[in-house]
Amino acid sequence: MLLQVSNIRKSYGIDVILQDISMQVLERERIGLVGVNGAGKSTLLKIIAGELSFDSGAIHKAKETRIGYLAQNSGLQSDRTIEAEMRAVFAHLLDAEQELRQLEQQIADPELHNQPKRYEEVLERYARRSDWFREQGGFEINTRINSVLHGMGFGEFPSDTKIATLSGGQKTRLALARILLQSPDLLMLDEPTNYLDIPTLTWLEGYLRSYSGAILVVSHDRYFLDALATTIIEIERHAAKRYTGNYSRYMELKSAEYESELKQYEKQQDEIAKMEQFIQKKHCTSFDNKTCAKPA
Ligand SMILES: Nc1ncnc2c1ncn2[C@@H]1O[C@H](COP(=O)(O)OP(=O)(O)OP(=O)(O)O)[C@@H](O)[C@H]1O
Ligand SMILES: [Mg+2]
Repeated sequence: MLLQVSNIRKSYGIDVILQDISMQVLERERIGLVGVNGAGKSTLLKIIAGELSFDSGAIHKAKETRIGYLAQNSGLQSDRTIEAEMRAVFAHLLDAEQELRQLEQQIADPELHNQPKRYEEVLERYARRSDWFREQGGFEINTRINSVLHGMGFGEFPSDTKIATLSGGQKTRLALARILLQSPDLLMLDEPTNYLDIPTLTWLEGYLRSYSGAILVVSHDRYFLDALATTIIEIERHAAKRYTGNYSRYMELKSAEYESELKQYEKQQDEIAKMEQFIQKKHCTSFDNKTCAKPA
């Protein structure tokens, strides 16, 4: 299990937003989080992301679990260029690449060849660092950046475009591109499909479907949820309920639930009417007939 949310309660003043929220996220799970406007979806994601406090309950996750969170309508604010911002995601690999270049220079230096022990050490460090670099995908950085930028509609943009000059919608798409490149273990996206045109939306669906981590996504787009989600969690009346399947399946289960609640209600009404009749009858037999007169 990746994440366990237990009995979370959150209120703003006297307004209870989330009452008793419990849910879990499993590895590679694709969860669609739904609910009416104001139900508390964004509030719950913020709490899980650690950006908002809560009144009681607990959130458990393994220490090494990396969570990536894209807030609703959040554009990327940065003084950098598109290219610099995307490359910054891989800062740890780019540092390693620089170190590898330095080690190569040392290895080529004839001075070092006169110190066999030192030479061995440098060679060994070089071997270890280059293995790590390859395992972490260091050789694919540019391909990954180009593919995500292209998919998110930035294919035609010069890479030295300043982010500050982009429109609000473009900044949102770029924020999404960056979080995809970060590839966290749990990807939490709050309404990611706003501002996306059809080709970008289609690309995003495909990318998320083959994503190796878990996904928790808030969306009002039922087609998007149908294409992606394998579980739906609904926040209703301050509580969370889990439905297995995509959005269409959730709608079927909801309507079956509604039908059965309606039947239950009708049955109760029937029983109440019978009970009233029974009481009325009893009343009439125990008292004189005047008290049995029906009220006008
Ligand atoms: N800082 C705040 N102070 C007081 N109330 C707040 C605050 N932030 C959110 N709320 C209230 O909490 C409730 C839940 O808000 P939230 O943004 O989580 O809803 P949502 O399910 O994401 O809605 P939407 O689908 O419109 O994005 C709303 O009634 C909102 O007005
Ligand atoms: Mg919201």
